[in-house]
Amino acid sequence: MYVNTKEILEDASKKYYAVPAFNINNLEFLMAILQGAVEKKAPIIIETSEGAIKYAGNGNPLRGARFFAETVKNYAESLDIPVALHLDHGKNLEYIAAAIKAGYSSVMIDASHEEFEKNLEITKEVVKWAHAAGVSVEAELGQLAGIEDNVVAKENVLVDPQQAKIFVEETNVDFLAPAIGTSHGAFKFKGEAKLDFERLKRVKELTKIPLVLHGASSVPTKFVELAEKYGANLGGAKGVPQEDIKKCVELGINKVNTDTDLRIAFLAGLRKHLSENEKEFDPRKYFKEGMEFVKEVVMERLEFLNTAGKA
Ligand code: G3H
Ligand code: 13P
Ligand code: NA
Ligand code: ZN
Repeated sequence: MYVNTKEILEDASKKYYAVPAFNINNLEFLMAILQGAVEKKAPIIIETSEGAIKYAGNGNPLRGARFFAETVKNYAESLDIPVALHLDHGKNLEYIAAAIKAGYSSVMIDASHEEFEKNLEITKEVVKWAHAAGVSVEAELGQLAGIEDNVVAKENVLVDPQQAKIFVEETNVDFLAPAIGTSHGAFKFKGEAKLDFERLKRVKELTKIPLVLHGASSVPTKFVELAEKYGANLGGAKGVPQEDIKKCVELGINKVNTDTDLRIAFLAGLRKHLSENEKEFDPRKYFKEGMEFVKEVVMERLEFLNTAGKA
């Protein structure tokens, strides 16, 4: 069934487990993710960035948002697991309005690059119109950046727990993404992974709402090596260790945003298949191994985040 993201995340917050939110840009990733979630009897969140919507709508935000909303809604209605569709990193009001109009379950307003007061004002506005349409809202505080890259500026970059408390009270936002040292993409840390767990703990104590971890890919060595074996160059790739993500879940993270791991898994499968099957030109065949690897990443996350069996 197609549900409000709030329904999924409030249960997760109450019971201290997490639900992965997987980014998609096309149908192959969606099919692989949903197959994995069905097999694991798990609730699942599908998310699309503004870039994904632009891509699917050939530049038209409403067309792109409708493409994803109609597809996910209809597909979800044939499944026994809760499925939500979320706008990831909404920065432009045009995309946020398009997602709400198209029927997304939730939207993110990401004004984390603005000063605290401005972020608060913008978020408050978006919460007003999203809630009026029955759509839940995620916002972000602090900036995604590796801690060791910002030792000096650390206090300015990561979330301030006291500000988080004020922000949640004043905006009435449903979910909060606190910056605690992760970053997007395949190159997260130069040395050891380093997250600010204490800060996360304080944010949960002071806000008590579902929390979101961005930049949560683990960048599995297995798929990095396989992709490289077949010609990719991903030198220096490094993600957040699964143990660190589990610790974040114990401290109150309930939504685990994952894009990069799926991209690398699919790339490994696609490169392998194409290089081993020079005569293949049927997309159902040459996408198959990539989709299987995506499904494998999905099922592994659903296991270690304790989402499996929660549907
Ligand atoms: O947060 C970023 C997500 O990985 C989506 O990235 O803007 O390339 O679609 P994108
Ligand atoms: P990764 O790049 O670590 O997969 O993070 C994805 C994300 O945070 C999407 O919002
Ligand atoms: Na998001
Ligand atoms: Zn993100």
